[in-house]
Amino acid sequence: MPRVYCAVYGCFNSSITNPELSYFRLPADAERRSKWLHLISREDLTNKPPQCYTVCEAHFDDMDILAGTHRKKLKNNSLPSLCLPIIQKKDVQTETEAPKLVEKCIQTEDTPRLVYIKMLKDVTSLIFKHTVCSRSHLTPELVLRLITPSCPLWKAREEELPFKDPFWAFYWPGGQATARYILDNKIIMANRRVIDIGCGCGAGAIAAAKMKAEFVMANDVDEIATAASLINAELNEVSIQTSSENFIGTQCEGFDTVLIGDMFYDEEFANLLFDWLRSLSSGGKMVLIGDPGRHGLTEKRRKHLILLAKYDLPQVSCIENHGFMETSLWKLK
Ligand SMILES: C[S@@+](CC[C@H](N)C(=O)[O-])C[C@H]1O[C@@H](n2cnc3c(N)ncnc32)[C@H](O)[C@@H]1O
Repeated sequence: MPRVYCAVYGCFNSSITNPELSYFRLPADAERRSKWLHLISREDLTNKPPQCYTVCEAHFDDMDILAGTHRKKLKNNSLPSLCLPIIQKKDVQTETEAPKLVEKCIQTEDTPRLVYIKMLKDVTSLIFKHTVCSRSHLTPELVLRLITPSCPLWKAREEELPFKDPFWAFYWPGGQATARYILDNKIIMANRRVIDIGCGCGAGAIAAAKMKAEFVMANDVDEIATAASLINAELNEVSIQTSSENFIGTQCEGFDTVLIGDMFYDEEFANLLFDWLRSLSSGGKMVLIGDPGRHGLTEKRRKHLILLAKYDLPQVSCIENHGFMETSLWKLK
């Protein structure tokens, strides 16, 4: 049987994790399909082939499901009605709210840096214009502004992008594992001083702040990533600090916890990063690494790690990260 995933926003059932469930294809009829997509908050699938997407039986009333000889069927005109996503008001924020948000972000800066504030003002509108609020990932309790399949930039060529390498506009599998683990393990961040190195959209830092870390810094050498992280922190009603300094090779003074989400994608960089992380860990810092199996996290390196958790990636992340179906959270020994 081919692998199928439930397309409902925030539902992670799949034929791998829940083989006992039936999965019903989106209706071929455009009008019915549009009703389904609205109910499951997946209007981004409007122009996708309906035969490629399914909704699991957990979202249908028992009365709508008929036992068939081989597999269950749905009564005509059934609609998904159970366990559907609640879209929060702030998830539909528009570009016009960007200036308000940036003012709030600036107030969270300990020592406002003028150049940084100017950059923040300039990029916030762009970020709002080209991203949407998304909860279609492993941590639906966090809303993040991302480029998703519903955004025109999703299919844009590199030269058409208004940002250079917008890594922050995607929620990488490694970062998803890091944030998921933090949100599931309440005490792990309590009273910690946390730095999220290569924070991208800032989800790791935001999860740590939500779980009552004492101090949280979202760090990325890309200043637009730190701006996006601030915006996302504000959307999730937590306060974080940001920095675009390169901390790699430093003692990371002032921090006792280091988060790394999906940074083992480059062999040369992985060498540098891993040795540095080991030195931090042997100096007593807790180092958590989220990674879906990138080549930089070699077998030899994994011997120095403890596997804390493994997660199936939601369908949209599998599509985004060709080949990766799972992601893991590791801790340096
Ligand atoms: C693959 S993305 C991962 C983003 C995020 N952690 C996640 O999992 O969604 C890697 C990020 O690392 C950042 N980066 C690369 N080198 C860095 C460095 N020396 N210090 C801090 N960030 C760095 C990039 O700008 C990029 O945002």
